[in-house]
Amino acid sequence: MMNIVAAIKKLLGINRDMINIILFGPPGSGKGTQAKKLVEKFGLVHISTGDLFRHEMGNDTPLGKQAKEYIKKGELVPDSVTIGMLNNKVNAHPEAKGFIYDGFPRTIPQAEALDEMLAGRGQAINGLFALTVDDNEIVKRILSRGETSGRADDLDEEIIKNRIEVYKENTLEVYDYYNTQDKAVSIEGLGSIEEIASRLQAAVNTTV
Ligand code: C5P
Ligand code: MG
Repeated sequence: MMNIVAAIKKLLGINRDMINIILFGPPGSGKGTQAKKLVEKFGLVHISTGDLFRHEMGNDTPLGKQAKEYIKKGELVPDSVTIGMLNNKVNAHPEAKGFIYDGFPRTIPQAEALDEMLAGRGQAINGLFALTVDDNEIVKRILSRGETSGRADDLDEEIIKNRIEVYKENTLEVYDYYNTQDKAVSIEGLGSIEEIASRLQAAVNTTV
């Protein structure tokens, strides 16, 4: 027998049992690495918009060609393109019990579009978890990742610096946007992968 709470939620179209988490932080702060850990722990679908763009670029699709013009300079792909791609990816996973958004939203319009899309599904963001890492450490980490990542945007210090600038200029305010909703949590992003993973898990556990 369906319990009464589940029945009421179904009637109202509320689906708050779904988990929607944003992994936030500057480039090179460990979002991708930590997202994989959270996937193992909470069984969520990981959506990295950067990975999706790189996949399209690898296949030389029209979307990939378009994205490349921005990514090679460390600039942001236009919101409409990124939001459309994100929506497609979410729609492709009707079985998911939730999602981890990594590298998205990068702007306020992207955050508004995400909230709107989730509201349309009777869902909402549970929390935004921001990994804090200082600029010097970021540049070091990205340059070292560049030795094996095959990413042109990880190899050039000028491009890396531009990515950090763009983060401060356009992306950081997404933290405030979710802080206003009481959903933003800062996590110390320095330490071993395991240390950071356990900090993150503890924080996520208090919101889901
Ligand atoms: O998230 P990641 O660091 O992998 O993104 C790599 C690049 O992809 C960014 O520097 C940016 O050019 C582009 N991107 C974007 N908008 C997003 C995510 C990534 O323009 N939401
Ligand atoms: Mg990443």
